[in-house]
Amino acid sequence: MAEILKAKGAAKVSVADLSRDDMAEAVEDAFRMGRLVVAAASYDADVFPPMHDFLHHLKIKGYRNRRVGIIENGSWAPCAGKVMRSMLETMRDVEIVEPVVTIRSRMKRADIPALEALADAVLN
Ligand SMILES: Cc1cc2nc3c(=O)[nH]c(=O)nc-3n(C[C@H](O)[C@H](O)[C@H](O)COP(=O)(O)O)c2cc1C
Repeated sequence: MAEILKAKGAAKVSVADLSRDDMAEAVEDAFRMGRLVVAAASYDADVFPPMHDFLHHLKIKGYRNRRVGIIENGSWAPCAGKVMRSMLETMRDVEIVEPVVTIRSRMKRADIPALEALADAVLN
């Protein structure tokens, strides 16, 4: 997604791996940047915990007034997107950018058009 956004002319793209990178830096970046795309795996009928933690940080720090794209991964019953949407919808003036993209298991070439559509909508 970062590569697609750059190819489409995004001025600056910052990527955080919430499993490994510093959470405070990721939260700081989210506030610094104008738009956000969250991408996480479904995990035990919920979202992968580092993303839950990240969105909780955004909520309690008053994240607002942004357009946010959602990418979910899942293998048998993807649900991460629904959970992320419901958390984002509690934040003031946060607009979910459609389409929400679902990737089943490993990313495939066939997933790219949906990611490009999301990138276009995010950059709009
Ligand atoms: C512990 C665990 C729980 C998972 N829970 C779900 C789930 O509730 N729904 C779902 O669709 N996929 C679930 N997945 C699948 C992941 O979202 C993801 O699609 C998958 O792990 C990617 O394939 P890989 O593990 O071979 O890289 C789970 C995976 C793991 C390891």
